[in-house]
Amino acid sequence: MAVKKTMKVVFSLVLLLLPLASTSAVEVKFDFMYFVQQWAPSYCSTAPHECEYEPRLPPNNFTIRGLWPSYEEWRPEYCNISDRLDPGQIQDLVKPLNQSWPSLLRNETNLELWSHEWSKHGTCSNLSQHGYFAAALALDKLKLTNLTKILADGGVVPSDEKTYTLGEISDALAKGTGFSTYLRCSQNELKYGETLLYEVLQCVDRSGEKLVNCTTPYWVTRCLDPDKIKIPAWFYGQ
Ligand SMILES: *[C@@H]1O[C@H](CO)[C@@H](O)[C@H](O)[C@H]1NC(C)=O
Ligand SMILES: *[C@@H]1O[C@H](CO)[C@@H](O)[C@H](O)[C@H]1NC(C)=O
Ligand SMILES: *[C@@H]1O[C@H](CO)[C@@H](O)[C@H](O)[C@H]1NC(C)=O
Ligand SMILES: *[C@@H]1O[C@H](CO)[C@@H](O)[C@H](O)[C@H]1NC(C)=O
Ligand SMILES: *[C@@H]1O[C@H](CO)[C@@H](O)[C@H](O)[C@H]1NC(C)=O
Ligand SMILES: *[C@@H]1O[C@H](CO)[C@@H](O)[C@H](O)[C@H]1NC(C)=O
Ligand SMILES: *[C@@H]1O[C@H](CO)[C@@H](O)[C@H](O)[C@H]1NC(C)=O
Repeated sequence: MAVKKTMKVVFSLVLLLLPLASTSAVEVKFDFMYFVQQWAPSYCSTAPHECEYEPRLPPNNFTIRGLWPSYEEWRPEYCNISDRLDPGQIQDLVKPLNQSWPSLLRNETNLELWSHEWSKHGTCSNLSQHGYFAAALALDKLKLTNLTKILADGGVVPSDEKTYTLGEISDALAKGTGFSTYLRCSQNELKYGETLLYEVLQCVDRSGEKLVNCTTPYWVTRCLDPDKIKIPAWFYGQ
């Protein structure tokens, strides 16, 4: 009886493990991906000592921060540590990536940033190296991710003086995209207390092709002053 039961347990375990064993580790399941864009002038006001503003001037623009596979409750990361980014695989994408997905860090080249993003997030995407970066670039070209335009259509334009409420910014994004959008803010290190719009998160389907709705990312914290959010027009450094 006991033997039979053990056999049954072992058999069930084998059944459970079989699909795992036959699936490559890179084929991590996830529900959707966050397509994250950052507002470079906010980043550079938040971390002026880290941000490279000369000679590589930060773009006065939203640039890609990342494409992050996720569940509602957690994010898989570093799904295959031996899978390093091979620059040869994305050679044809370097020019548009330079433009749309630059590193803003003084001490980090663009290639270092892409290698990091590939290791941490890309290896979990079930996409090839080329497929992953091509997907991000294609997303960046969609009308629904053209944040500067969508915000402007909703009356929200970058300014060094004017501030907006979280509601005003969220409404403009909701109206312009039709999909859930989440914001992250940062604090201006140079002008203590100022709340800056730092990142905009949109959700895309598993194949990284189109926007979908998703729930609030668990790691997003409330903007410190949701009634007065600035989207700085430029950052001149000090
Ligand atoms: C801002 O980014 C968009 C999308 O990546 C691009 O089309 C546009 O040329 C950029 N504008 C500037 C001023 O860099
Ligand atoms: C991890 O990446 C390495 C290098 O690209 C590859 O050879 C290996 O098959 C990958 N591992 C799995 C489990 O897919
Ligand atoms: C991309 O940018 C790097 C500097 O960050 C530069 O060395 C390289 O020539 C650029 N490549 C292309 C194809 O624009
Ligand atoms: C760049 O500097 C930041 C802090 O200023 C540090 O966290 C990061 O590890 C550094 N990156 C590299 C590639 O040295
Ligand atoms: C991973 O991608 C392959 C094709 O590239 C596809 O057949 C498979 O269904 C994908 N796996 C998951 C879990 O989405
Ligand atoms: C975003 O919208 C602006 C204004 O309409 C346009 O000039 C720009 O080309 C658009 N960018 C992309 C990547 O579609
Ligand atoms: C996505 O959510 C918004 C509300 O945030 C809703 O208006 C819209 O219909 C939803 N779209 C889809 C395709 O479910």
